[in-house]
This record gives sequence, C-alpha cells and structure tokens, in this order.
Amino acid sequence: MEPILTKFVREPHCYTLDFYLKHEGYQGLRTALGMKPNDVIELVKASGLKGRGGAGFPAGMKWQFVVKDTPKPKYIVCNADESEPGTFKDHLLMERNPHLLFEGCLIACHAIGAKVAYIYIRGEFLHVQHVLEQQLEDAYKKGYVGKNVMGLGWDCDIFIHRGAGAYEAGEETALLESLEGKRAQPRLKPPFPAIAGLYGAPTAVNNVETLSNVPSILLRGAEWYAALGPEKNGGPKLYCISGHVERPGVYEASMNITLRELIFNVAGGVRDGRPLKAVIPGGSSVPILLPDQLDIQASFDGVAKAGSLLGSAGIIVLDDTTCMVWLAENLLRFYRHESCGKCTPCREGTQWLLNILEKIERGEGEMKDLALLENVAGLIAGKTLCAFGDAAATPALTTLKNFRGEYEAHVREGRCTVPAPWRRRTAAAAHSH
Ligand SMILES: Cc1cc2nc3c(=O)[nH]c(=O)nc-3n(C[C@H](O)[C@H](O)[C@H](O)COP(=O)(O)O)c2cc1C
Repeated sequence: MEPILTKFVREPHCYTLDFYLKHEGYQGLRTALGMKPNDVIELVKASGLKGRGGAGFPAGMKWQFVVKDTPKPKYIVCNADESEPGTFKDHLLMERNPHLLFEGCLIACHAIGAKVAYIYIRGEFLHVQHVLEQQLEDAYKKGYVGKNVMGLGWDCDIFIHRGAGAYEAGEETALLESLEGKRAQPRLKPPFPAIAGLYGAPTAVNNVETLSNVPSILLRGAEWYAALGPEKNGGPKLYCISGHVERPGVYEASMNITLRELIFNVAGGVRDGRPLKAVIPGGSSVPILLPDQLDIQASFDGVAKAGSLLGSAGIIVLDDTTCMVWLAENLLRFYRHESCGKCTPCREGTQWLLNILEKIERGEGEMKDLALLENVAGLIAGKTLCAFGDAAATPALTTLKNFRGEYEAHVREGRCTVPAPWRRRTAAAAHSH
C-alpha cells in the first residue's frame, strides 16, 4: 500500500505549511466545511475508521454520541500523550506531519459543532511541542486556523497543552482532569465525555493517528478508505515495531498484512537470526502471542480473534534470550510507578505483584507464589475505574499462562534458566567494576 500518513516524512521540509499546501493540504477541511456536520459524521462512520488510541472504537460513532442540543460549548480533545510502552507513532506524525493533525482536529470540530480543539501532548515531547507550536502559529497567520478559516466564515481555535508526564494522563478522563488543571486521575463513568467531558461539556477525545486519518476520508471518500484494509478495519495503520528485530521503527501498512509479515519482512526479522520467543502485539498492556500465532491479520479484529489486542499497535518482539519472569517484573515496575493511586486494587496490587515477581527473580520464590500472583492479578483486573488495572494485571497473567514452566524453573533452581547472553554480559560488566 502506498503510504498515506507517512508518505513524505523523509522529505526535509515536510512539516511546514507550504509543503503541506503543495500536497493537497487543508483540502479535506475545505470539503468538510462545504458539508453539513452530520454528513461529515455519516461519511466517517461509513469509512469504518476505528480509533487508533487503543480501544479501536469507531470514530464516527464517538462523534455522533456527542450531545448536540446543549447551550454548553463542545470540545475536541486530541490525545497526544503517547505513553504506552512500545508505542511511538504519534510522535512521528506530529513531528513530521503536524498540519495533518490540525486539519483532522478542525474537521472533527466542524462535525461535532465545536469551536475549540485541545491537543494534549505528552510532557516529554518537548521538541515535538515546539514543532506543533511553530506550525500552529503559521496556520493561524495564513488563515487556516482561528477566525474565518480559509475565508469560509467559520471560526475554530486550536490550543496545545503540555502534559506533566504521567502514563495515566493518556486515559481519556484522567487527561480531561489534567487539562482542567487537576491530578491526572480517571473519572467514574458514566457519564462519558460525549455527555460530560471537559469542564462538564460534551467532548470527543481522539488519538493523534485517528484524527490524522480524517482528512484523506474527506478527500477520497469512505469507500476508498474502507477498501484499503479488511472489512471493518479500513484505512492505513501505523505499526511501531520494537524489541529484538533487525529494523525497529514506525511502518505504515494496510491491516491486510499479517503479524508475521510485519516482523519478518517489514522489520527484517529477529535480530542476529535468533529464534522468536513471543510477541506483544499492542503495547505492553496486551496479552502475549506465541510464534505459531502470527499468521493472522494485524488488524483490530484479527488480533482480537487470536486472543490479544491490537491496542496501540506497539509490536514488541522478544527473542529466545528473554526471561519471561524478568519481563513481567520489568513491566510491573513501570505499572507500579505509574499507578495514579486512586483505586485501591491498582495502587496496592501493583506493589504486591512487583514484590512477588522480585522475590521469584531473586531466587527466593516458592511454588505457592505462582498462585498468589494469579490471585492478586485477578483482584486488580476489572476492579478499577479505568483500564489501567487490566493493563497492570496482564504481564503477570499472560506470562504465567504461556510460560509457567519458566516460573517453576526459577522457583526450583533459585535462578533464571533462560540462556540470555546480554544478561550474562551485563553481569560480567557489573562484576568487573
Ligand atoms: C492507562 C491508559 C493510558 C492510555 N494512554 C493513551 C495514550 O497515551 N494515547 C491515546 O491515544 N490513548 C490512550 N489511552 C486510551 C484513551 O483512554 C482513549 O481510549 C483514546 O484516547 C481514544 O481515542 P481513539 O478513540 O481515537 O482511539 C489510554 C488508556 C488507558 C486506560
């Protein structure tokens, strides 16, 4: 498939307004502004565009749910927090194609009847924030954002808001709290943001990649878009491939592609030709797939059928040197650190999971700890206000399910039995100091 979102990212000035305008820039918005808002929503619904932030919820439906008949203002909020481990596609899109995102935000505003869009950008993306700010200033100066957009008598503002550096701020209601100046902690749902979102007003929260898909739908139509991928999984998709592959990176492809093709053809296969051990297909929060489960479409539906989730399409590839107990411990250290602390099962449970995993890793584990791990993880998953709880429980549960023998070997032998050259190297280096 010819790239759509990333076609020009290697061109030196691809992020500028002039470059964007030479390549059909803001023409999707022009089309949208000539349409009734509801027709834009219907078009996006017909395209089948699914949200690229993690849950894969259809974007057109989300916009339709936004309450229209209200004296309150309405808001589009772009989720640019991108903190899921293994995920780095929104960074590329914003750095190299910022106007595509602005155009997507403006079209979404028109569709739901909003006059303001906020882009909530991850605090650590300082350079990207500067690119966005400079380019937004230019778009304001040349009349693509602000008063009387493109001379078409429509006003719309975009504001860029820098996050303070928390994974939880990517959860949409925590993000709204943070945008309002409060701690990034999730809200009780319902009400959903479409009814009571930012400042209690109807709001649609969309991911960067989701919004960046919208201009091409307006330009080329819903049928064209849907036909780019398998049924109900249309359009281009950005995959972030990392870990033990020869060529890690962001790759754009149709969701017709299989996971095996992505890893072995696109990303060059496992580093040094080593055997593949496992793949986490959708960012660190989703269940592991095994090497014999890769001949599936790398689509939302394809990965779900195989028992995992496409999530943020952060494909983490693990070769045979990876210790699965260490993997779970490493990820739990992240989740323990990032738990916002609002829900007791998550705040306390992530620490407990980490304690048990560290004990097993230290060689002090007992067989009963494996059942305890499952028990504690089961007490977190599904018992919190947001999906962070499910995410935090997953590493322990999925590694136990697929690699229980490795846990048992740790307990029996009091050490890791996985051949891990890099770990031996690290240990040797530590010893020599
Ligand atoms: C703990 C947690 C972190 C999340 N982080 C992000 C994120 O960094 N970026 C993102 O777009 N969605 C993130 N999400 C998903 C959002 O809550 C929300 O589903 C998404 O912004 C919706 O956009 P979409 O419909 O365009 O996919 C996160 C969810 C959870 C539970």
